[in-house]
Amino acid sequence: VNGFRRIPHSDPVRVLLVGAGGMGRTWLDLLRRHPDTELVGIADLDVAAARRAAAAAGLPTGSAAASLTELAAATRPEAVVNVTAPAAHHPVTLEALGLGLPVLGEKPLAATLPEAVELVAAADRAGLLFMVSQNRRYEEGLWHLKDLAHRLGGPGILTHEFFKAPRFGGFRDAMAHPLLLDMAIHNFDAARFLLDADPVAVYCEEFNPEWSWYAGDAATTAIFEMTGGVRFVYTGSWCSPGLETSWNSSWRVSARHGSARWDGESAVATAEFTGESAAESAGEGGRPNRAPHQHRHPHPSPPATGIAGSLSDFVRALRTGEPPATAARDNLLSLAMVHAAMLSSAGGTRVRFGELLGDLYPEGELT
Ligand SMILES: NC(=O)c1ccc[n+]([C@@H]2O[C@H](COP(=O)([O-])OP(=O)(O)OC[C@H]3O[C@@H](n4cnc5c(N)ncnc54)[C@H](O)[C@@H]3O)[C@@H](O)[C@H]2O)c1
Repeated sequence: VNGFRRIPHSDPVRVLLVGAGGMGRTWLDLLRRHPDTELVGIADLDVAAARRAAAAAGLPTGSAAASLTELAAATRPEAVVNVTAPAAHHPVTLEALGLGLPVLGEKPLAATLPEAVELVAAADRAGLLFMVSQNRRYEEGLWHLKDLAHRLGGPGILTHEFFKAPRFGGFRDAMAHPLLLDMAIHNFDAARFLLDADPVAVYCEEFNPEWSWYAGDAATTAIFEMTGGVRFVYTGSWCSPGLETSWNSSWRVSARHGSARWDGESAVATAEFTGESAAESAGEGGRPNRAPHQHRHPHPSPPATGIAGSLSDFVRALRTGEPPATAARDNLLSLAMVHAAMLSSAGGTRVRFGELLGDLYPEGELT
């Protein structure tokens, strides 16, 4: 983020919501009750859905329309939350930036990588904040695991498992890459956060288990080389009944001085320290602690859980001018992990991020 316009007051930020679908209604509830925001209008191509949502939120008539542009003059917004379907992220975010409004957008940043690069450049040109909500970053247990991983001497291997068996019955059942496009962005982004590292190369295989009820590949395994030589091994499936993981997956970190685990559900991660310096940092009286235990050190915590964490970070950034953790420019690398994995799987080759991003951003501005 090359600097962006701040909101110079501490009153609630006037927000227009775009998208009154399933996730739009979850955002609507948050924007209504959050002390830092005032919901001033709702846009959706499906105007009836926008009107129903506005009425349910107790907004006056005239606060719902098919587009942002129709609402902007009357509602005097200061920011936009974009919760439209992925294909609409590009046009709606451009429209908001064109109106001079900063944007907090749902994942994924955009439906394709070239569209994502265009949006990042457009926000820079406009001097406006564009942030992607990666709500699964804002989990206490993930922050705890990250702290443990670094206390253990820095992670060398991160493994991830996501095994669920939901019967969505909607667009996910029909799409070509349901796991990689719809879900894995959360986990790839969380891995970058946890490791404080960026992707270097990936080898990936997507496939559809014989019993899968999805049209596209519902299962994936990918090996990422991350900066510093760290390996992130991702395995996931949308069609695996039995012993299901939590929605936040199941994680294991291996480091020089021991290992740590998080089940994705509880706020607590566990670790086993084996080396001397780890024993010191564990604060266990200098003796190595070989039993899994609940780490007693205070560790950093997210500002709030889930989308409320994203919203807090967005408002803080608008007020202070300090970029949020998931500014769109940074988030391009998480999205690139999804598209590089698909490329690798389609071609049966290892894909290097330098080449992939160099093609998109010839000036090398990105890296
Ligand atoms: N972070 C999470 O946990 C999470 C969970 C679910 C969905 N999502 C994301 O939220 C977004 C919306 O998902 P959903 O499940 O609510 O989908 P949905 O299909 O229920 O709703 C999308 C809405 O966008 C509207 N829309 C489409 N194009 C538009 C345009 N050009 N202008 C205005 N409105 C437009 C549609 O009419 C629809 O009402 C997606 O990006 C999805 O990936 C995130």
